[in-house]
Amino acid sequence: MKVNIFKTAEEIGVAVAEIFTNEVKNNPDCVLGLATGATPIPTYQNIISTYEKGGISFKGVKTYNLDEYCNLPKSDKNSYYTFMHEQLFNSLDILEENVHFLDGNAADCDEECKRYDDEINNAGGIDIQLLGIGNNAHIGFNEPADEFTTGSFKVQLTESTINANKIYFDENPMPTHALTMGIQQIMSAKKVILIATGPKKAEAVKNMIEGPVTAQVPASILQKHDDVLIFLDEAAASLLK
Ligand code: GLP
Repeated sequence: MKVNIFKTAEEIGVAVAEIFTNEVKNNPDCVLGLATGATPIPTYQNIISTYEKGGISFKGVKTYNLDEYCNLPKSDKNSYYTFMHEQLFNSLDILEENVHFLDGNAADCDEECKRYDDEINNAGGIDIQLLGIGNNAHIGFNEPADEFTTGSFKVQLTESTINANKIYFDENPMPTHALTMGIQQIMSAKKVILIATGPKKAEAVKNMIEGPVTAQVPASILQKHDDVLIFLDEAAASLLK
């Protein structure tokens, strides 16, 4: 794990956006794994400003998002489909047929997860996977568990995750389940970039980097990946030795 500590979330956004835009310039047909949440927003804003300056196109890029809520219409303002379009895709020349999500409303979730995993494999796997981290060290929606997960699956969200994310759900209650890529799948990305900002993430960050590799701290598995960049602001890094 290579750990980079920056003063602010904004500086991280500039640095991580540069990695992504360089990848798109060097490998215009790359496959990107993307994340939602507040954390990647500065990165997405900086990707958009680089794109707006010209000289880069996303027409050949394919994206696969980590996760999606179950039982929430795709068009809902809180779906990850809506989030990604508002925060990134609508501002780029990326093709709609090249942006991919798990369908949290699929009639058969097992079949849907298999379809998604096969599609990622058929695309040649993920070149760069972007991750945030939950307060309980979840990645994607891989909650603390007895064993590390493999491919995409349906998960029941923990109280910690529901408490952290329910602030966005002012009208309808927050979904209790989601579909998410599994840990082994995240680990098979060629490169992984994890961003954590703010004091609420400090303990999860410490456990991820300095603790044992355990499925109770899902992000700790990243210690075993040979190309992981961790980007922290000073608050998220505050408990590190
Ligand atoms: C959700 C997402 C994760 C994200 C996490 C942290 O649970 N499924 O992918 O990393 O929230 O979100 P935030 O960046 O808003 O703290």
